[in-house]
This record gives sequence, structure tokens and C-alpha cells, in this order.
Amino acid sequence: YDRINVAIDGPAGAGKSTVARLVARELSYIYVDTGAMYRAITWYMIREGISAEEHELVDQIVQGMNIDLLPEKDVQKVLINGEDMTPHIRSLQVSGQVSQYSKIEGVRSRLSQLQRQMALRKGVVMDGRDIGTTVLPDAEVKIFMTASVEERALRRYKELKDTETVTLQQLEHDIAARDRLDEGREISPLRRAEDAVLLDTTHMDISQAVEAIVSHCRTYV
Ligand code: C5P
Repeated sequence: YDRINVAIDGPAGAGKSTVARLVARELSYIYVDTGAMYRAITWYMIREGISAEEHELVDQIVQGMNIDLLPEKDVQKVLINGEDMTPHIRSLQVSGQVSQYSKIEGVRSRLSQLQRQMALRKGVVMDGRDIGTTVLPDAEVKIFMTASVEERALRRYKELKDTETVTLQQLEHDIAARDRLDEGREISPLRRAEDAVLLDTTHMDISQAVEAIVSHCRTYV
């Protein structure tokens, strides 16, 4: 049978990456976490002391950098100029700034191009904000995954509470702010593609969400 591409978009903390990874495993497809790519660039810039205001400089550096994705057992590693950025990309510092870098045109065009290349041979599950609308508008399956902001903050809190000093209230605030920036940006903002299936996971656990998506995919393959 033919392989398909699966696009999973939605706001921060909806569980996209956990679910997308498991969907890919079920289908024996490749999982691509596009958020990790934006985060890796963000961490690189923060470390180099280049602020997101310096659009032209960011642009220039991003066009010249090598970006590689290494699929590892449970996480996907993102290498920039051969160096693994992954250990740093989930921090609150990166989460707090990534939307400022991800709205820069040169960042988006470079990453979108890489993402399209990865999906050329199909058999890819890709998650992000603009996959169904911009990166892979021809994806056979498009899912828009959401959950209430309270539920999303709670999920993030459970993930982060052991490594970061943060309150649930702070996370709720941060997540809502990031959604506003991602929805409000000029280039490929976060929104549901017209042909995307809406999946509200507020009252679903991970396996239920995975099952819903996989069974939808099975109608194509
Ligand atoms: O999915 P994750 O929360 O890791 O994404 C981090 C950030 O990267 C998002 O808040 C958004 O600003 C940016 N992003 C994007 N387009 C994508 C994936 C992520 O702009 N396709």
C-alpha cells in the first residue's frame, strides 16, 4: 500500500509530540518534531547573544547554518553545525523566547524547506503549528489537536516540576501568551487548516488520542 503523510498541529502543550511519536511508531513512520527545530535555533541564538530583534543577523546566520535531525530511540536530536542542541531546548528560557525567533521570515523559510524535504518520500508524522496549512498542505491526514489551557498547563507542569521552579499559574500564563504570539504572527500563524480534523484531548488520555489518529490514518493506508 502507499504511505501517507500525517500533519499534527495545535497550540502549546496539547500533547502533540507525545501523541505524534506514538502514532509514528504504530504506523512504522518517521516522526518529525518541528517545534524542536525552532527551539534549537532559539537556544543557539540565545547562547550566541543574538536577540530576536536583530532580524537580519538571525536571518543571515540561519541561512548559513547546518541543521540536522537525528532520530534517536525516544527523542529526536537536533544538531546545529554538528552540535547537539537537544539538552537545552525544553527549558523555560527557550519556551519563553521561541515565538519571537519563530516569527522571523528567514527562520520559517529555512525550516519549512527542510521539513518539506523530509516528507518527500511520505511515511512521515510531523507535528507543529503550520504543517497542515503551509509546510505540507497536501498531507493526506491533518489533525488539529487542542485541549483547554488549564489542562495543557497541568500537563506541562507535571513534565517540568522536577527540573524547573515554576507554578501552575505561571505556566498557564506562559502558554496562553505563546499561543497568542503564534496565532497572531504574520507568516504562517497557528490555525486549523480547513480540512483538518479537530481533536480536543481535554478529556482524553494519550492512548485514546493515539488510537483516534491511527484509526483515522488506517482509512487511507
Ligand atoms: O511544539 P513546541 O511547543 O515545541 O514549539 C515551540 C515553538 O516553536 C512554538 O511556540 C512556535 O513558536 C514555534 N513553532 C512554529 N512552527 C512550527 C513548530 C513550532 O512556529 N511548525
